[in-house]
Amino acid sequence: MNMITVRPAAPADFPAIAKVAVATGQDEEWAGADPAYLAYLLEHGTLLVAEREGSVTGFGATRLIGDGPAAVSMLCDLFIHPGTHGRGCGRAILSQLWPGGPGSGDPGPSGPGAGEAAAGGPFRGGPRRMTFSSLHAHALPLYTRFGLDAWWPLLYLAGDVRTVPGPDGWTVAAASVTEVAAAEQDWTGVDRSADHRAWAARPHGQPVRAFRHGELAAAGTAAGHGAEYGLAHLAIAPDVPAADAVLAVLATLRAPDGRARVCLPGPHPAVRPLLAAGWRHQDSDLFMASDPRLLDPRRAVPNPGGA
Ligand SMILES: CC(C)(COP(=O)(O)OP(=O)(O)OC[C@H]1O[C@@H](n2cnc3c(N)ncnc32)[C@H](O)[C@@H]1OP(=O)(O)O)[C@@H](O)C(=O)NCCC(=O)NCCS
Repeated sequence: MNMITVRPAAPADFPAIAKVAVATGQDEEWAGADPAYLAYLLEHGTLLVAEREGSVTGFGATRLIGDGPAAVSMLCDLFIHPGTHGRGCGRAILSQLWPGGPGSGDPGPSGPGAGEAAAGGPFRGGPRRMTFSSLHAHALPLYTRFGLDAWWPLLYLAGDVRTVPGPDGWTVAAASVTEVAAAEQDWTGVDRSADHRAWAARPHGQPVRAFRHGELAAAGTAAGHGAEYGLAHLAIAPDVPAADAVLAVLATLRAPDGRARVCLPGPHPAVRPLLAAGWRHQDSDLFMASDPRLLDPRRAVPNPGGA
C-alpha cells in the first residue's frame, strides 16, 4: 500500500494545489486554484497537503472563527484528486486538521477539546467544528466520523439584482472594512476584520452598511469575479428582520453585469422572496456541525469557504 504523507503547505505548493482544485471543479476565483485565496488560507488558517509517491494528491484547510472556548474550527476546503478518491487521503488530512475527532479511532492527545469530545461528544463541550459539505458521496460519511452532523442545505442562489424587492425604510452605503468589522463584532463578539479585508480585496470587493430607519442594521462585504460576484457575507443586527436586511443589500449592489449570487441557509426567510423574484437555485452544500447552534439558519448569510 502506498504511504500518504500529510504536511503543511507552502507557496511553492500552490501550482500543485491548483491542479487538484481544477480536477475537482474548483477553477473559479476565490477557490483552490486562486493563489490569492491560498495565500489568505496560509496567513489566517491551516493549509495542509497530502502526498502519495512524491506528488500532491489533495489539500485541506481550516480557519478558526473567534477565540477562546467559543472558537469554532471551520473546514474551508478538502479536495482530493479524483484519481485518488476513496483511498484515505481525505481522512489523513482531516486527522491532522482535526486531531482527536470523535470516532476517528485516534484519541489525538494534542487535539483541542479532544478529551471532552471522547467523553461527551457533540453538544457537550467537544470540539466546535463546522463545514459546508459538498454532496460528494465520501464527504458526509467522512465529516460524520469527525463529530459533525448534517443539519440544513446551504443554497447557492443567483439572479438579477434589479428584480430584488427592496424593503421600505432602508438605505445602503459603501463603508470601510473597519466600519463593517466593528459592526459585526458589536453584534456577535467575533472579530472578522481579516476576512472582510480579504473579501474586500477581491475583484469588485466593496464593504457596505445598511441602515433601517436611519439605524445601523446590517453590515457585510460584496465581492467576486464574473458569475462569482455577490454578497460574500452579511452580519445582521439582533431584532432586525433578516429577510429585509438581505433584500435591502442585494437590491442596491452595484453588480458588474446586473447579476449577483448569495448563499443562504434553506430555512432563511429571504429564500422565498428571492425565488419569487426569479432568482435561481444553482447548487447546494450541506451545513455540517458538531452543534447546530453554531449558525442560525434563519439569520446567517455565510460564506461557504469562510462562514
Ligand atoms: C470528499 C473527499 C474530500 C473525501 O476524500 P477521500 O480521500 O475520497 O475520502 P477517504 O477515502 O479518506 O474517506 C472516505 C470515507 O467515506 C466512506 N464512504 C465512501 N462512500 C460511502 C457511502 N456511499 N456511504 C458511506 N460511507 C462511504 C469510505 O468508506 C471512507 O470511510 P472510512 O475511512 O471509514 O473507510 C474527496 O472524495 C473529494 O475531493 N471529492 C470531490 C470534491 C469534494 O466534494 N470535496 C468535498 C468538499 S466539502
